Amino acid sequence: MDKTLSLYSDRAEDVATSSSFRQFKIQHFHLDLNVDFEKKVVSGTETIQFQCIQDGQSELQLDIHPTLSPQEISFSRDEQNWTRTEFLVQEFTSYGTTLIVKFPTPFNSGDKFQVTIKYTASDGPGVCWLEPEQTAGKLKPYVYTQGQAVLNRSFFPCFDTPAVKSTYSAAVKVPDGFTAVMSANKWEHRKTDSTFLFTMDHPIPAYLVALAVGDLQSAQVGPRTRVWTEPCLLQAAKQEFDNVIEEFLSVAEKLFGPYVWGRYDVLFMPPSFPFGGMENPCLTFVTPCLLAGDRSLADVIVHEICHSWFGNLVTNATWGEFWLNEGFTMYAQRRVCRELYGEAYTCLEAATAKALLRQHMDNTGEGHPLNKLRVKIEPGVDPDDTYNDTPYEKGFCFVSYLAHLRGDQARFDMFLKAYVDKFKYQSVVAEDALEFYLEYFPDLKEKNVHKFEGLQKDYN
Ligand code: BES
Ligand code: ZN
Repeated sequence: MDKTLSLYSDRAEDVATSSSFRQFKIQHFHLDLNVDFEKKVVSGTETIQFQCIQDGQSELQLDIHPTLSPQEISFSRDEQNWTRTEFLVQEFTSYGTTLIVKFPTPFNSGDKFQVTIKYTASDGPGVCWLEPEQTAGKLKPYVYTQGQAVLNRSFFPCFDTPAVKSTYSAAVKVPDGFTAVMSANKWEHRKTDSTFLFTMDHPIPAYLVALAVGDLQSAQVGPRTRVWTEPCLLQAAKQEFDNVIEEFLSVAEKLFGPYVWGRYDVLFMPPSFPFGGMENPCLTFVTPCLLAGDRSLADVIVHEICHSWFGNLVTNATWGEFWLNEGFTMYAQRRVCRELYGEAYTCLEAATAKALLRQHMDNTGEGHPLNKLRVKIEPGVDPDDTYNDTPYEKGFCFVSYLAHLRGDQARFDMFLKAYVDKFKYQSVVAEDALEFYLEYFPDLKEKNVHKFEGLQKDYN
């Protein structure tokens, strides 16, 4: 076995990307963008810092989308001398195309260089433009991006696979009277030219880069937490979540280890936001429906907070392994809720969800390929089209089964913390998680728990 391939995920195939992520490593990228609400385009340049990791590479492939137009591409080995270079766009699937950048002489393993891409992104699947009427305040337009699963290729050229991670920074110029927010741990507002500056110092997969621009204001609701909303919702958001989120964070930290992301802010989206929540690091995006007036929907926040460990630190390496993000997060969410609200509440909530999973399985057939924990995504199939209850609730059942096999909650909690510590900033497939579980509990390995009937059926 090649010693540089230390995880199973290093060998896993991701059919949803056409990028050359096995030939090059992205170390950091910078987005320098301008937001134009009239034309509904985001335009600017992206500068990507690469290291070549395989000899003889004279072409670089990046994921893009037909709604993204590259205009000019240059590369440099020293950040001083830039050379214009040829590029072309090739068909890939219904959900993306491939940007091929050509180099006059090939790069070899270890070579470092930068590429800058001047481009415009219009109304792609990941860049959502809203008219004023579609916002809560109905006064100003709004734009936001949604990366998961493979939509960010319509926002910026990228290695659009959760298998690889990098840091990023951005400068976003917006019209006067607008505020930009991003999934970044450092923010600054340069008032002189209405530009917002962001840095994300921790490596993240491309799908977790997120931007929203609108008529936004914020209010503090905890020592590391603000709620961001349109002005008309600010009071309601502050009331609903004042002094509650910090408790969620501190219980989760006690269970899963340090919260590494610095701030934890929540952005209340316009009414048409299609999810309950989206775990963009440092800045969860949520539906304004959470503003129920009685804190009854706070579990969604607990869920998104738990992704700060499961999903955002330890990430599924392919979208076929989505249960590693959502199943572990459902387990973590209920583990936190058990600490906060007790066993009875949490069991009732889990039992209700299990009944819905049963219904889903009965309706679709238990043997349906999408009802396996690991889904085989066929080339050309959009990973989002495989979305269903299984990764969440069957994933939860499976993690609960691992806890049951251990038979001691405190020791299973320690395993979860160790799992995060072991794989943080990396991407994993099921084998990495299960092998680590057996390594962590040698007595269970001795007992051959991994050979019990049932497991194999979901993975083969
Ligand atoms: N990451 C998901 C949302 C998602 C999944 C977006 C797949 C795009 C593709 C998020 O963490 C999530 O699971 N949200 C749930 C709420 C949660 C309480 C189960 C939702 O929005 O329904
Ligand atoms: Zn989730």
